[in-house]
Amino acid sequence: MDAQGWNERYAKAERVFSAEPNPLIVELAGPLPPGRALDLAAGEGRHALWLAHRGWRVTAVDFSEVGLDKGRRAADADGLAVEWVVADVRSYRPATAFDLVLMAFYHPDFSERPRVFSVAAGAVAPGGHLLVAGRHLRDLGRDGGRGPRDPARRYTPEQLAGAFPGIELTQCEPRTRLVEGDDGPIEITDVLAFGVSSPRRV
Ligand SMILES: C[S@@+](CC[C@H](N)C(=O)[O-])C[C@H]1O[C@@H](n2cnc3c(N)ncnc32)[C@H](O)[C@@H]1O
Repeated sequence: MDAQGWNERYAKAERVFSAEPNPLIVELAGPLPPGRALDLAAGEGRHALWLAHRGWRVTAVDFSEVGLDKGRRAADADGLAVEWVVADVRSYRPATAFDLVLMAFYHPDFSERPRVFSVAAGAVAPGGHLLVAGRHLRDLGRDGGRGPRDPARRYTPEQLAGAFPGIELTQCEPRTRLVEGDDGPIEITDVLAFGVSSPRRV
């Protein structure tokens, strides 16, 4: 879906995604000391807001201004200073490096991944962390419509291992969780990639 499609989707509902941060993001980013964070494809800003509440200085990037506007309004209401940047991640060039770069449930297809992943990895400061979470390919068709229908946009751990230049992944694995389906709880699987930028990197 392009920026216009996402704008239309975000305009149809007060919230498209949960206001709560995803549990994987809470688990991995929660213990990190606050610093500068970059949330790529931030959507309605749930993770940017959660990080800002924890003392991070956050830059949130998305090509949907309608999505980011929701985050901006929530930040204003809570008195949080978040930098909201309307930009395409594929061509985004951050002006600084970040202690945490987050890419949550953003699913570029195979052809876009080398560029997007090098933007994300290149934005991590030496010793900083990269955290990527997305929907697993093996869930396609059995996750109640959560995530992309195009298999080329879904992840496997094998695809993400080694995909981020200069990042040593300490975790790259499937993670299951229970969510509410139409007929009761269903188990769905995400892919998590978490690692640190080599301190030797220049
Ligand atoms: C499934 S939503 C995830 C939003 C948020 N990260 C979250 O976890 O709630 C995917 C987001 O990716 C954004 N997106 C998709 N392609 C993009 C691109 N090329 N540049 C910037 N944002 C993009 C969409 O606008 C959308 O907000």
